[in-house]
Amino acid sequence: MANNKTTFFATQIGSILATAGSAVGLGNIWRFPTVTGQNGGAAFILIYLFFNIFLGVACMLTEFIVGRNGASNPLRAYIKAGRHKSWGIIGILSLLCGSLILSFYSVVAGWCVYYLYLAITGGVLGSFDHIQTTFTTLVSTEGIYTCCAISVLFVVLTHLIIVQGVQKGIERASTCMVPLLILLLIVLGIASCSLPGAWKGLEFLFRPDFSKVTAHTFYDAMSMAFFSLSLGTACLVTYASYFRKDANIGRYALQISIIDVLVAILAGITIFPAAFSVGVEPDAGPSLIFLTIPNVFTSAFSPTAGYYLSILFYFLLVLAALTSTISMHEIGTSLLSQELKTSRTMAGNIITVFCSIMGILCALSFSHPDIGLFGSTLFDNFDSFTSKVLMPVGAFATCVLVGWIMPRLTIVRQLTSNARYPWPRFMLELFIFLVKFVCPTLIGIIFVVNIFFTN
Ligand code: TRP
Repeated sequence: MANNKTTFFATQIGSILATAGSAVGLGNIWRFPTVTGQNGGAAFILIYLFFNIFLGVACMLTEFIVGRNGASNPLRAYIKAGRHKSWGIIGILSLLCGSLILSFYSVVAGWCVYYLYLAITGGVLGSFDHIQTTFTTLVSTEGIYTCCAISVLFVVLTHLIIVQGVQKGIERASTCMVPLLILLLIVLGIASCSLPGAWKGLEFLFRPDFSKVTAHTFYDAMSMAFFSLSLGTACLVTYASYFRKDANIGRYALQISIIDVLVAILAGITIFPAAFSVGVEPDAGPSLIFLTIPNVFTSAFSPTAGYYLSILFYFLLVLAALTSTISMHEIGTSLLSQELKTSRTMAGNIITVFCSIMGILCALSFSHPDIGLFGSTLFDNFDSFTSKVLMPVGAFATCVLVGWIMPRLTIVRQLTSNARYPWPRFMLELFIFLVKFVCPTLIGIIFVVNIFFTN
């Protein structure tokens, strides 16, 4: 029961790994290499690093401040921070946002489970035609039952961890899964770099070509940093409410951002050398992990190595997705269990049923595009609505709340954990300046560009 707020993560490392698990996800392993490929490689990575470390850390800290100060679910935390009931709207929007993201994310996570099964049974490798047919069948009317079933399976898997509780479920699972995930990426990275011609991939990844940088590169880097750090959905507010009073949130934020960037770069080191060594374009788009990668495993490695490496790769994706879906599910579970005064299990059931139904509709919308609004599939609707509207609104509101509304004393107390970890004055002023002016302006730009200039 989480009705009375005595729930905390048990250890520092558990708090960091759970939050890092939320940050590290399909965004790092799937989206980051794709967007890096589309934006010309190393130059994009440098810009991404800048946004992740400066703005990402500042925004992450705003959520940590609201969360730990609130010591409750996002609804109450925002009301307490803003000292007005209307701030609760941001908490409610976060519940909606987390649940919608979980719904469409579980579809892709389900594909990863299916590919793990295929990898184990040897069905992921084969001619290019075979690989192509496997994926198109999965998302067509023929594979639709499988597709729906595996996305529900993924939500249920998340549910089973969530109902174990904050320490025994979330913390324990993340403490096992995040280090394992990093280890797997290192193994796969080494295998990929050992391929002939791999250096071309590394060069692409590490030698910046600034001629490829356009205004769009900045915009892509910024949105990627926001999604990757799970900002704007109160996911971090929820997790921060489980941080202990003596947690050094400044250090946490920096460490989580570094883990997030390292995992993204490691994913790049795994994917680009392998892709270049078989002559596949690195900007293959979202099909990268379901078409390009199986092709790489088939043609670049011996059949035995390809078999085992493909299992490791899809297992890695499942782990990465799971540590993220846990955090999305927890937003709603914590909020509903406290507000409806019910158990975590009951609250978890509500979120699981809702997200399973929505997940099925998202999965169905691939083969039945009429399920959706404005000429797009429901999957795309949810993706766009959350990343273009709900997440920027949440992040913007949190910056305004911390930068302009919360008393400075409360902010300083949270940042320094009641003067336990003093901040140099310069750093404090820089943080306040970023949160007051820079972050809201940049988030505002993302919002406007997203709504008016992209389709
Ligand atoms: N950061 C995760 C990724 O990179 C996705 C994610 C997890 C997320 N929790 C979230 C995104 C909460 C938004 C909100 O894949």
